[in-house]
Amino acid sequence: MCTFVGSLIESVMAKRYTITAALPYTNGPIHIGHLAGVYVPADIFARYLRLKGNDVAFMCGSDEHGVPITIKAKKEGVSPQNIVDKYHGIIKQSFEEFGISFDNYSRTSAKMHHDTASEFFKTLYDNNEFVEEVSQQLYDAEANQFLADRFVTGTCPKCGYEEAYGDQCESCGSSLNATDLINPKSAITGNVPTLKKTKHWFLPLNKYEEFLRNWILVGHKKDWKPNVYGQVKSWIDDGLRPRAVTRDLDWGIPVPVEGGEGKVLYVWFDAPIGYISATKEWAAREGKNWEDYWKDKDTTLVHFIGKDNIVFHCIIFPAMLKAEGSFILPENVPANEFLNLEGNKLSTSKNWAVWLPDYLKDFPNQQDVLRYTLTANAPETKDNDFTWKDFQARNNNELVAIFGNFINRVVVLTHKYYNGVVPNPSNYSQIDLDTLAELKAYPAVIASSIERYRFREASQELMNLARLGNKYLAEEEPWKTIKTDEARTKTVMYVALQIAAALAVLSEPFLPFTSNKLKSILNESGNSWDDISNEKELLPTNHVIGKGELLFSKIEDAAIQEQLDKLEAQKRTNEMADKTVEPQKDIITFDDFTKLDLRVGTIIEAEKMPKTKKLLVLKVDTGIDVRIIVSGIAESFSPEEVIGKRVTVLVNLAPRKLRGVESEGMILMTENETGNLVFVNPDKGDQIANGIRIS
Ligand code: 2FM
Ligand code: ZN
Repeated sequence: MCTFVGSLIESVMAKRYTITAALPYTNGPIHIGHLAGVYVPADIFARYLRLKGNDVAFMCGSDEHGVPITIKAKKEGVSPQNIVDKYHGIIKQSFEEFGISFDNYSRTSAKMHHDTASEFFKTLYDNNEFVEEVSQQLYDAEANQFLADRFVTGTCPKCGYEEAYGDQCESCGSSLNATDLINPKSAITGNVPTLKKTKHWFLPLNKYEEFLRNWILVGHKKDWKPNVYGQVKSWIDDGLRPRAVTRDLDWGIPVPVEGGEGKVLYVWFDAPIGYISATKEWAAREGKNWEDYWKDKDTTLVHFIGKDNIVFHCIIFPAMLKAEGSFILPENVPANEFLNLEGNKLSTSKNWAVWLPDYLKDFPNQQDVLRYTLTANAPETKDNDFTWKDFQARNNNELVAIFGNFINRVVVLTHKYYNGVVPNPSNYSQIDLDTLAELKAYPAVIASSIERYRFREASQELMNLARLGNKYLAEEEPWKTIKTDEARTKTVMYVALQIAAALAVLSEPFLPFTSNKLKSILNESGNSWDDISNEKELLPTNHVIGKGELLFSKIEDAAIQEQLDKLEAQKRTNEMADKTVEPQKDIITFDDFTKLDLRVGTIIEAEKMPKTKKLLVLKVDTGIDVRIIVSGIAESFSPEEVIGKRVTVLVNLAPRKLRGVESEGMILMTENETGNLVFVNPDKGDQIANGIRIS
């Protein structure tokens, strides 16, 4: 009988959790960035909580409305329904194949969701929570279409990013109204939009500013991840404005009130309600009460999202829930940063991604290898890079050489020495007792990392437990003692088998397929997370283990090279596409041209705009005057590099404010062959005086 040392860990009372993972847009398959950013961490969390005996509702579904779907449908010449039906199936299957253990994976085209979102809107409408307003909105006359959200791009007024969408800038994360964009351009025709009057319902976020400030900033949300807390704080500090929650589109949930004909709910109004409708659907199926999961203040609500979704989950959705009045608010919103691939931003349009269906074709049954690599290298605190070399190293040096090797040795030796029967231990040495004590501490160590949303750290602790097993076997050498000391060998093998059994349980959140395999190898599936720290024997003497099989196998260089070659080919395709010269713009008259006042100037001072990545505030001698120009070049140049540079300046561009600083003009830039920004500057500039006209 094993006598584990150490104190009993107090078993924590089971609690109810509602865990949500961002609903993916249903306009393409899922790639590694989605998995790393949202779904694997959420799944680890949900699986862990279930293992601890909690009542968990883990909800997700397809986000089937919104402009990205409409754009994809237009591009493919099919209906939006056609697009969402296709990708809903593909995405759902990928989640199942990668073991993402949603309790329900629903879709926002479901009737339950339409009804729930309509009802939510009506409740807010009936409670006079909306402001109804006729305002001028961007309109594309050629396409006969109002331009909201991704139908329009332009320059972000906050950070100067030139490809911001009508509802959000993906560079600085700011939430925008389409009319905020500088130089807006229709994504349908490329036209400059006109303005046209239309009626919409606005959620007056300004009304919730105080509540949000108290709830997030003054309240207990300091334990939110710094990236989330920081972004939210800066938006609240900037001041919140009313936000339209309806749209003039024909794809979405019809606005269910008088005057709403021909309009739909804004996708970011309906999508988060999808978490609620998914819960309703699941509760009806399981004979549960959905309200327990959304309205009971003892339920903990956690939203897992990517960083581009922060504003919607920390400001807009909580304001909606607050306005409705009967819902709980999230306890935490652990948002991850972005994952890059081999040094470049993941991009669907550039096909720079590892798509899950493709991965499984190339690495069949190796879901856990990807789950592990993405967790060990998760973009938790900063953007991170996925490289195939790292993937190979994580597999070969950790999963195969540490975890797999330990299990293999234990199983092979147990069969060889004892025909698979767990031996009887006796006379524990100090190292046995220390090893068992260390083993017992692991559940709490891993739990603490998971509960603080540090999944990288947690996965490394799991690997450390396998390391402990390897170290123990290497030091105690049962393959040697078997010849000299039968009793000692039995004790060592017994202890090693307990470590293997603990790994079977503790690996479940991270490596669910491996955990299952290991449980079947050990012929044991009844141990719980807390059993490991308690006095229970995980594999008692005389228990018979099952047949051995390899948990992981080495990934050879050739398999990695194949992936690198694929990416290289894609890079070449993209370079060719980039080289295509942009088509000439519409003809302008000579008069149009002479309106541009281009001058030679010199940058005399430069500094970074605080809290932005891209902007430099430049003081430029234009020959006419010395003026401030804010320029989006900070990613290509440091302030020191540009001081003294001769530049071409468009001096009569209407002044505009960027981050509160008035910019009076534009510095002309272009890109070199490698895509870096370069100045369009006067040749032999030092012989040309500032202020000399170029046009
Ligand atoms: O960014 C996205 O992919 C969105 N479809 C996420 C929606 S999350 C939620 F609110 F449903
Ligand atoms: Zn921005």
